[in-house]
Amino acid sequence: MSVLKLCLLSSEIVPYAKTGGLADVAGALVRNVSALRHDVRAFTPLYPIVRRNYPDLQPVLGAQRVPLRIGDTEYGFSLLTCAYPGSDAPVYFVDCPALFDRPGLYTNDPDEHRRFLLFTRATLEGCRRLGFSPQVFHCNDWHSAFLPLYLRTLYASDSLLARAKSLLTIHNIGYQGVMPSAAAADVGPASVWALLDQGDFGRGGINALKTGIRHAHRVSTVSPTYAREIRETPLGMGLESALRERTDRVTGILNGVDYQAWDPRHDPHLDAHFNPEDLRGKLINKEMLTATLGLKIATSRPLIGMVTRLTEQKGIDLLMDALPDLLQARDFGLVVLGSGDSKYSGFFESLAQRFAGRVSYRTGFDEPLAHLIEAGSDIFLMPSRYEPCGLNQMYSLRYGTIPVVRNTGGLADSVQHFDPGTGRGTGCVFNDYDAPAVRWAINTVLDWFAIPSIWAQLQRNAMAQDFSWTRQIQEYEALYRGLA
Ligand code: ADP
Ligand code: GLC
Repeated sequence: MSVLKLCLLSSEIVPYAKTGGLADVAGALVRNVSALRHDVRAFTPLYPIVRRNYPDLQPVLGAQRVPLRIGDTEYGFSLLTCAYPGSDAPVYFVDCPALFDRPGLYTNDPDEHRRFLLFTRATLEGCRRLGFSPQVFHCNDWHSAFLPLYLRTLYASDSLLARAKSLLTIHNIGYQGVMPSAAAADVGPASVWALLDQGDFGRGGINALKTGIRHAHRVSTVSPTYAREIRETPLGMGLESALRERTDRVTGILNGVDYQAWDPRHDPHLDAHFNPEDLRGKLINKEMLTATLGLKIATSRPLIGMVTRLTEQKGIDLLMDALPDLLQARDFGLVVLGSGDSKYSGFFESLAQRFAGRVSYRTGFDEPLAHLIEAGSDIFLMPSRYEPCGLNQMYSLRYGTIPVVRNTGGLADSVQHFDPGTGRGTGCVFNDYDAPAVRWAINTVLDWFAIPSIWAQLQRNAMAQDFSWTRQIQEYEALYRGLA
């Protein structure tokens, strides 16, 4: 089979910069596609955290201080590079301090759209400077969703790029990159505006993700169920009809798990390892977790874990209703690691005060603690309002940490509700987005925990699941090949 030439764009990639699952998936794609011997190159912004942690990045000759105009401002960008860990694939970092030297990866600044328009244009210009002619540009989320339109306009007669195809993967339709119509000059010249959604434009907005959906050669999302939900239900968040217009070009591919990083047999963040045949290490992790967090619950009592961005998407509103009563009524511990909305962090802070010794809340981004929570908890809670794929429920299965999830998106595609009658199933799945449903689910899983034979069966089922990338990557390879 011939070698494919691919260019992947992502606003975050592990191990360099991460706020959520997009970074895990982008990193896994680069490594696994490269392992298939394809020529894959990744582009991502150079954030201050990357500059600090990776001082040895090499400047790319011929791609230094390249002028690039966005609207009325002349920016300059440079490319720095290194090989992606464990592969030959180059990663190119777009260095533009005027736009990327900000405290976080994402901002609420008025020029947020410019940051990622520059990133997208710099990738295209960078390919030209490198003499790299990808067959497929793989765009991810709104941050690079203008690229398909640029290929059809600004680069339509470029000798290197004119024949390239584009794939847009939607990781989260809740973030669409909407900018005011006044930003049209930033987006490009009149030839570009002419192809924007004129209805939206007239109403005062430009929607980056919608633009990508309309102009990409193919669109994918990160689970089959979410692919259906965003076309057929309000979970499309206003883009249902844009997706339906391209329905034969839209597919759902479930994310995989990087078991090099997320496997209790050899997880580098754990002191005690374990496997389905010998779970003693899991108990040691539970003891370490409770000791680290100052919890006073006995190891025989069930411990529920959560690692999450604190946003409306993640279903915390349901927990605000359900958890206080449940903690009154039943004897279990809860550990939460999360960062985001103050409404939700305030809730968990007050819960930790009220149930001191039984509830712990840690804020900030803490990779080692995320692994310890996966390993040391008995139950993992993901009551998401919507979930394009979700990774933590799949990590949890591997660690014998039984997921409690809502029946939506990738959660529905990766967790089967347990039936004590047949002994089949891997977790607890509830349907309705309301407090009684999540209350029912938590009560149910706590009842299962109380019966050792049932719990052992559930853990065996969960740990036998395989969501490795080796399988999922073939679906992407087929998609790339179809496009190329
Ligand atoms: P999303 O991308 O919507 O946040 P996913 O389940 O796909 O949801 O991926 C979340 C990823 O981010 C997981 O790898 C999870 O462990 C990690 N994560 C989320 N919040 C934190 C945090 N506060 N500290 C460390 N890791 C976190
Ligand atoms: C998004 C989604 C999450 C998904 C991740 C990686 O952040 O919220 O469900 O797993 O992207 O695709």
